[in-house]
This record gives sequence, structure tokens and C-alpha cells, in this order.
Amino acid sequence: MRIFEEMESEVRGYIRSFPAVFDTAKGSHLWDEHGKKYIDFFAGAGTLNYGHNHPAISQALIEYLQRDGIVHALDKATVAKQAFLQNLRDTILAPRNLQYKVQFTGPTGTNAVETALKLARMVKRRSNVIAFTNAYHGLSLGSLAVTGNSFYRDESYGVRHNTDFMPFDGYLGPDVDTLTYFRRFLADQSSGVDLPAAVIVETVQGEGGIHVASNEWLRGLDDLCREFDMLLIVDDIQMGNGRTGTFFSFERAGIVPDMVTVSKSIGGGLPLALLLMRPELDQWQPGEHTGTFRGNNLAFVAATEALRFWDDSILADAIAAKGQIMAEALTPLPQRHPDLGIDVRGVGMVWGIEFRDADLAGDISHEAFKRGLVIETAGAKSDVVKFLPPLNIDEETLREGLALITEIIAEQAARRANGHQVAHA
Ligand SMILES: Cc1ncc(COP(=O)(O)O)c(C=O)c1O
Repeated sequence: MRIFEEMESEVRGYIRSFPAVFDTAKGSHLWDEHGKKYIDFFAGAGTLNYGHNHPAISQALIEYLQRDGIVHALDKATVAKQAFLQNLRDTILAPRNLQYKVQFTGPTGTNAVETALKLARMVKRRSNVIAFTNAYHGLSLGSLAVTGNSFYRDESYGVRHNTDFMPFDGYLGPDVDTLTYFRRFLADQSSGVDLPAAVIVETVQGEGGIHVASNEWLRGLDDLCREFDMLLIVDDIQMGNGRTGTFFSFERAGIVPDMVTVSKSIGGGLPLALLLMRPELDQWQPGEHTGTFRGNNLAFVAATEALRFWDDSILADAIAAKGQIMAEALTPLPQRHPDLGIDVRGVGMVWGIEFRDADLAGDISHEAFKRGLVIETAGAKSDVVKFLPPLNIDEETLREGLALITEIIAEQAARRANGHQVAHA
């Protein structure tokens, strides 16, 4: 670890939570330099929905490189890009009756978010954008302005202009319809909230702690956007690519957003980000929003291969079945350990366990790592243990990881109960 401490910026993060030097990875497993094996319930924060080094993806990449396929081409036309666009249209968009235009942005999620915000403001000629409590949309300055957590939002960055935050579904408790609250701000000329160009939302907040918006709430938000002429941007960077059960996370609500940001697993493990937009919103001048790494051809090759997993319903069926296994393992926990103040939330193959005592989430992640499971925390206070296994994880490994976590939680509960008794003895 010495070279990392000596050379790498203090900003390094996951290296601290998972202090090993990783070397190889396959499917749902990682190995460190000493050959220690880990189960991966983190999946690159949603980038490895199809696992590490899927043989079909690796093979396509090897063949492409061996035939000297062009790797870097800026945004010129390439055979690899052509194949990706055709597959995206035929496998994903057309069967869902979606007619989006595709814009390739810089290769990370925040690039797609920046692009969406810029385009929405340009098209609507309005500067304000609404985001939601606990939102996470990236950390470059435009995206940071619509990210909620104060840990990332130092006052000195000065990027809080032209955004307002509204309460996400459930933020004010089960009895408050947060859209009624939002609507009042829009309808009241004196609310202090300028009519926004757009609303940006995650259908399930990932980094914010696995808050699942209900279908009714998402439909209500869609209606509100139409009523007040605001564009609806769904940030599907973490929850897209099948994580919640369908390719796009908004499908369950039956809505069609004006724009969708897509990244992480779309590249099959390689960096790729794109913005999908209704054709009438595509009002860019040629070259008006550019970047050197818009669409890397290796990522196109990997992405085209990854889209083949959606040719039939096998993957979606498997997500439903494994989502059920996760639900069955996790939803009994609040009742089993009432003293821990647990809340379990999730859908498809993304689940979170929130602990009243935030430290407990960190302790569990830490202990899991020692025993060979990589799982991260999320949430406003890092108080949520977040389950994000690869979608194609085999059932045995999934159950193994779930059993390990439930065992650690039971041990923590027992330890606390004993500590409590000792304190009172
Ligand atoms: C919903 C969402 N949007 C945007 C981002 C930013 O993506 P990136 O870290 O690739 O910039 C993330 C990253 O976790 C995310 O979860």
C-alpha cells in the first residue's frame, strides 16, 4: 500500500474502505495480489451489472484489438459506433417504443448529467433546475449543484446557483405527499422558486441511500412536469441497465422522460456515457458541446456485446428471481433485530439496510471485507449498507454473500445486547 500513500492524493476513497491490492476479477469475484478471494456486492457502484470480465465481452475486445480496430476516433463515424447505435435502437429503444436521439458525452456519468442540464437550460431558456433531497448526480460543478449531500458541497465552490431542492418521495414521512408541496412552490408566484427548465431525478436514489420512489409518485412528477412545462430528466446512471428489473429504471412507472442520462454498466465495464433525448430537444449546433473522449470504440465494442444480454427475457427473469432471493433474506431483518433500528428498502437487485446507528453500517461493511465480501455504504450519514451485486451473479454466490451479511448483523446485535447488559450490571 506504500506507493498509494506516497503518491496518490488524499482524495482516494474506496482504497481506504477496501484496503487490498486487487489483481484479477471474474464474474462476481475479485482476487487480491495474495490470491485472497472476495465476493463483489459492490459491482463498481453499478458499473459491473454483467460482472467482471464477461467472457463474451473480453473476447469481443480481444478480437477488435487484434484486428487493429480503431480505438480513438473523437466523434467520427466508426464501425464499432455504428454497431452500438444499431443494437441500442433495435434491442432497447424500439421494443420499448422509445424514439430518443443519442448524444455521446465525455465517458463518465457526471459528463452526461452536465450535458443534460446544459441542454435543458438552453432549450427552455430558463436557468433554474429542481433536484431532490438526497440526490446524487456527480461531482463536477454543474452536477454538484444538483447533488444534495453537504459533504460534497463546500460553500467556497460557489455552485449553488440556479438550483432548488424539493423533498423526494417519502422524505417528509409516509403521510406527506411531497408533490403537493412541490406543486405549491410552482403555482405560487411568490414562493421564491423560479420556474425551472427541468427536474432531475433518480427513480431509486443510489448514493443517497436506496430511497425508492413509488410508481405513483413518478407518474405524478411526470404530470407536474407537463403541467408546468418543465423537462423531466431521469438520471439512470446507477439504476439503469437492469438494476431495478427492467433495462431503464423508469419503465415500472410507465413514464417516458424527456431526457435520460446513462453511464456505468452501459459500457460493459468500460467508460461510456450518453444522453438520450426526445428528438425535438436535440437543438445543438454541430460541435457546440464536444469533448475528446466522446465514445471510445473499445467501450462501444463492449457495450454492443453487453446489449446482447437484452435480446431475450432471460436476464430480466433472472433479475426478478434473484431480487426475490434478496428480498426474502433482507426484509425479515428489522423484525429479527428490533434493537438495531433497521429499515430495509429496495427493488429488483438493489437493496439497502439503513441502521439507526450510522457507525454500524460502516462496521458491517468493514467486517464483511475482512471475511471476503466487498460491500459499500451509502446514505446521508453512510448509514446504509448497499447491496449491488452483479445481475448475473450465480444464486449460490448471492446466497453466500447474503448469509455472511445476515450473520454479521446477528453478531453485531448480540454484541450490542451483551454490551447493554454489561452496562446495566
Ligand atoms: C445517479 C448517478 N448520477 C451520476 C453519477 C456520477 O457518475 P460518475 O461518478 O461516473 O461521474 C453517479 C455516480 O455514482 C450516480 O450514481
